[in-house]
Amino acid sequence: MVCLKKPDKPKHRAKILAKLSQKFSKKYLKRKCALENTSSGVFFIWKKGVPMSKTPEIFNIIDKLYASASLTRQELRFLLDNRDGASDERLFERARAVSARAFGKGVFLRGLIEFSNYCAKNCLYCGIRAGNAGAARYRLNKEEILKCCENGYSLGFRTFVLQSGEDPSFSDEALLPLVSEIRRTFPDCAITLSLGERSRESFEALFAAGANRYLLRHETASEAHYAKLHPPETRLPSRMGCLRELKRIGYQVGCGFMVGSPYQTNDDLVTDLLFIKDFAPQMVGIGPFIPHRDTPFAAFPPGGLEITLFAVAVTRLLLPEVLLPATTALGTIHPKGRERGVLAGANVVMPNLSPLENREKYSLYDGKICTGDEAAECIGCLGRRLSAVGYELSFARGDAAGFAAD
Ligand code: 5AD
Ligand code: SF4
Ligand code: FES
Repeated sequence: MVCLKKPDKPKHRAKILAKLSQKFSKKYLKRKCALENTSSGVFFIWKKGVPMSKTPEIFNIIDKLYASASLTRQELRFLLDNRDGASDERLFERARAVSARAFGKGVFLRGLIEFSNYCAKNCLYCGIRAGNAGAARYRLNKEEILKCCENGYSLGFRTFVLQSGEDPSFSDEALLPLVSEIRRTFPDCAITLSLGERSRESFEALFAAGANRYLLRHETASEAHYAKLHPPETRLPSRMGCLRELKRIGYQVGCGFMVGSPYQTNDDLVTDLLFIKDFAPQMVGIGPFIPHRDTPFAAFPPGGLEITLFAVAVTRLLLPEVLLPATTALGTIHPKGRERGVLAGANVVMPNLSPLENREKYSLYDGKICTGDEAAECIGCLGRRLSAVGYELSFARGDAAGFAAD
């Protein structure tokens, strides 16, 4: 199969025809070749006996996505089913352009504080699920968490992401004074919470205490798929209800999902992307599924790099201004995963501010990177990695559009 692409100008078309006719007779060309005009160029495609290239159609869909920030379910499905190296490259290039238009070459820095790995839930994919008796549990106290913030602040972090399992001992009674104190001590910083599902009253109280953002990945927007990843008591409508509530309260909200999680189909992935477009969150966390040895999903393969980048790039194009991290999981499945994420439209990195002695224990999946590196080392490392691909770390607070710092 031959596929040539040139700008749709008669001059170029004539040139291509002349070149081809040096090699092949006119009759042969007429019989075997199709000339197709597309919005992005002229394509010659071999016909008869060989599969037709889907390239022109895919490129048209990518161009439409770039121009309109939306696609139908059928178009997304076609893109996903027929993507190849060339179409991915085009998609990443478009996603980079949109990201650069909205954010320039800066990549926002967030400091992640994993303050408790106790969890009451039993998500089948997760290494700190309640059912994993082998997990070494830990919990930081208020002073230890504030220390992490202090360390982060002096390194230049202006967003703290407080993350934990669904730990019942962090009731509102324990959390509200903590959030209030971080708000008081670091008035110029954003406080992001990632604590799982809580009551509406709790979300409201935490917001009133000074939290600005909340990350709660939806995990999969397909009910049937959700039921394969979670025990029966953990249900998608409840999670979606939390997301809606968070948005209503006024948080900058992040949803997200894993790519390549067990039983995920292309249709599920499309459902996730359409949900994200429709929900229009301020942040989206997308990373590959990575098996953890002590979970029911230990034997499943990890999600792939390219398909994860595909999901990142489509998300950037669907929501041009969304805050989109190049996740640690992406950096775990490939040594250049985070750089590749940025080159596919991501604009956030989240190095770890947790005390070194606990890092290994916050083990959602096997092989997590940076568990032995101080935050200062990661900042240096990320700065070098980003500048090698033409980007730079931004120490700004990095709020979503329409959410100015208080
Ligand atoms: N692989 C990749 N991501 C995982 N998460 C949990 N377990 C895994 C895993 N095995 C993600 C989930 C969760 C977030 C905190 O981490 O999407 O929402
Ligand atoms: Fe708990 Fe979150 Fe892990 Fe589920 S994914 S078991 S809620 S920490
Ligand atoms: Fe942590 Fe490279 S980012 S060591």
